[in-house]
Amino acid sequence: MAILKIARMGHPVLMRRAEEVADPDAPEISYLVHNMIETMADAQGLGLAAPQVHVPKRVVIFHAPTGDSDREPDDPPERDLTVLFNPVIEPLSDELVYGWEGCLSVPGLRGQVPRHASIRYRGLTLNGGKIDRTVHGIHARVVQHECDHLDGILYPMRMTDLTKLVFESEFHRTMEETEEVAAKSSHVEAEMSDG
Ligand code: NI
Repeated sequence: MAILKIARMGHPVLMRRAEEVADPDAPEISYLVHNMIETMADAQGLGLAAPQVHVPKRVVIFHAPTGDSDREPDDPPERDLTVLFNPVIEPLSDELVYGWEGCLSVPGLRGQVPRHASIRYRGLTLNGGKIDRTVHGIHARVVQHECDHLDGILYPMRMTDLTKLVFESEFHRTMEETEEVAAKSSHVEAEMSDG
């Protein structure tokens, strides 16, 4: 097993469409997945796509709660790791939600990105398994972010307001301002409803 080098924004491998995985059970694919898991853990990432480790194949891994009813609160986080080959995403509504994202290939930055609020996604997983999930919230956001990597899209390319592209070191300041604005506008709303 090995920790792999992560490609950064500007590298051609991040800008092209990745190829389908023909055989998810091939030894080289399982070797790749294990190295990706190790690399993601080392970088403390929430997700990782194969092009980010210079492999142009349609493989993503990510942590997201699956909502399993048999999940125990003290289960280890590895429980929530999903390995997904050849994913297909279907938006379930036109509703977009804005949320802050970071990316191991865009180090040091955060951006506020619109994503579909809820999606259905399908694909193959390890050991011949199939995944077919309907998700929303952070789970839907992570899947859309990771799968974008397979089509050469990085999150800044999805942004509609580049004033919300900030350095991590300034992120909390921006968040405070955003919350201040939100507090002010809710105050205005309260005043209006009082009137
Ligand atoms: Ni990313």
